[in-house]
Amino acid sequence: MLTELQKNFSKGKRNIICSLVFILLIVLCFLIIPSLASPSVVLPTPQKESDVLLDDVLSSKFSTQSREKINESFDLNSISQLAWAAQGITHPPSRTVPSAGATYPLDVFISTRITLEHLDNGTYVYNPTDHSLIRSDIQPTYMSILQVIISDNNHLSLELINSAPILFLITAEYERTTEKYSNRGIRYVHLEIGHLLQNLRIQAKALFIELEIVLNFDENLLQSLYGIEYIPLAVVFAWETDSADLHLNKKLNCNSYNNLKLEYYNFGVQTSTSVEEAINARRSIRDYLPDAIKETEIKHLLKHSIDQIDAQSNESVFDPFLGNSSISAYLSVSNIEGIEEGVYRYISADQSLNQIINNSKQEELWEASLKQQWVLDAAIVIVLFMNQSKLYENNKTYELNYRNALFDMGAAAQNLYLESYALGLGMVVVGAFSDTEIKSIITALSEESPIYVIPVGKVSVITAYGPFGTWKQMITSISAWLSISGMYFAHLFITPMIRKKIKNKRSVRLHISLVLLSILSLVVHLFLDHGGWTFLSNPTWVSFWGVIKSIFFNFSLKGELDPYNVGFIISRLVIWFGIFFLALSLALLFRKTRLKFGSKIKIIHKYFGYVLVIMIIYHALINGVIVSYIYPWSVIILVFAALSYAFLT
Ligand SMILES: Cc1cc2nc3c(=O)[nH]c(=O)nc-3n(C[C@H](O)[C@H](O)[C@H](O)COP(=O)(O)O)c2cc1C
Repeated sequence: MLTELQKNFSKGKRNIICSLVFILLIVLCFLIIPSLASPSVVLPTPQKESDVLLDDVLSSKFSTQSREKINESFDLNSISQLAWAAQGITHPPSRTVPSAGATYPLDVFISTRITLEHLDNGTYVYNPTDHSLIRSDIQPTYMSILQVIISDNNHLSLELINSAPILFLITAEYERTTEKYSNRGIRYVHLEIGHLLQNLRIQAKALFIELEIVLNFDENLLQSLYGIEYIPLAVVFAWETDSADLHLNKKLNCNSYNNLKLEYYNFGVQTSTSVEEAINARRSIRDYLPDAIKETEIKHLLKHSIDQIDAQSNESVFDPFLGNSSISAYLSVSNIEGIEEGVYRYISADQSLNQIINNSKQEELWEASLKQQWVLDAAIVIVLFMNQSKLYENNKTYELNYRNALFDMGAAAQNLYLESYALGLGMVVVGAFSDTEIKSIITALSEESPIYVIPVGKVSVITAYGPFGTWKQMITSISAWLSISGMYFAHLFITPMIRKKIKNKRSVRLHISLVLLSILSLVVHLFLDHGGWTFLSNPTWVSFWGVIKSIFFNFSLKGELDPYNVGFIISRLVIWFGIFFLALSLALLFRKTRLKFGSKIKIIHKYFGYVLVIMIIYHALINGVIVSYIYPWSVIILVFAALSYAFLT
């Protein structure tokens, strides 16, 4: 009896030690590797709502720099909010701005002129994964950065930028995107800069922060000052004025937002969405309801996104980076109440739609956009064109003008994303299409070239933007959780039963059923998570092979070795480990009857089970459900799961 107890105890001890080793390894990857980099400053949690309405920000002029007394200081909360608006993670892996193929080529550096409250003077890089600032190894002086900027921009107000307490540098590592999209990736990166800058402008305006965006400077000089290989593409000076304090006080004392929230689901033409809520909710939506969009809604969307004339100053609202607006918008309409099918040109001056073709060209647009299903399903497709003739209207080079015009396209598309959320619509920017085909389908002017194809449709706000994402995303994550639970319970509860009463057929059957459920749902999850929906809507051998390739061989790392990327690698390893584990399970199943294996296989099977379950839980927590800011909690859940597993099996 005593020896039996001792045996069990030492078995339990061995289990615990093994589990602790696994936990230690994972915690190492999880916490220590990312923090090896450099000391970091954790930023305050960004606000996800406020009383500043998106519509208000998008209908008044952007470049009204206040020349009032510039505040010496800059609040850490404001830095947090701006950095989040630029690249913050909202619904992992989604960020506040879209990214072609989720390749995220942009980085945000922040330099301070003086030591601020809670932030030492210096240069930092924003780390979206845990919403922190990492101090750069190389520290350029603020004055040296200013000198590089000023030498190419003598129009800038020296007084203003000399006293701005903080500046953002936006850089791109093109390879992250060109690796996947080759040359087309360069265009995508520039569009993404436009999305980012527009979010910065909108968020800054909501916080009454003034910005000066500089796009023309010696990139090599800045690169060597910052000691980086990424390409610097935009410098943004930011400052608060005394009037900002007044506005902020007014904002803090005002609780109108709560009242507005009551009207939340009553999407009329006047939307009541705050800037932060829209930035936080923005996602690419590819599933639409078959319902029609109202004419007033579409006009509201375009008015707040493309360009408009400020009522007071009679100038363009969006202050184009190019200097003048180069955007032409066309609409392929198939389901708008009150507007007949057809292709229309949008006239921003009076917000009217001018019909140029009397039937919807959606099917042709779908074919020209590599048959992306959402282009066919949408109620309308907005096509943004760049008017090339506008690129010769100043004395800058064509290349620089083309780049700035792409920034403007990205900015307009970002407005569309935010406004479409506010209107209860869903959209996705599509950059992959044949330029010549799109141009000839729309019958655009000869100087216009297509940049974005944007399907827009009605959505159920709750399923499209809710915590679980679209219903397709919901099925994908439910299948993942079914798989994890099946595997976990199969081992946690059933194995001891089998061990004690090996002849109890019911428990063996239960164990095998749970394992089968787990495998089946894992297959469903893997299939759907790797392009399976595209295959289902367009079943060809090529798209099937694409899914298989993505499941088994997509090991390419995106960026640094942070918890998210560790999770990414683990998710790929899980597949191969899983196959090996399955082979072990089958061997065990047939051991008694057909195959002759030693008892070692049972032990390997058991410990391998530990590794696999822990890996899957880690992957699910980091890559799937848990918002990355709270990842320390996932360590606790992980430790709990592993310990209970070790004690109970
Ligand atoms: C320049 C650019 C091009 C894109 N092209 C496509 C596309 O062709 N098809 C598509 O479905 N999504 C496209 N997207 C959307 C991205 O896939 C999406 O932003 C990314 O998966 C992140 O998801 P999120 O926008 O929901 O955060 C593009 C995004 C950008 C910025």
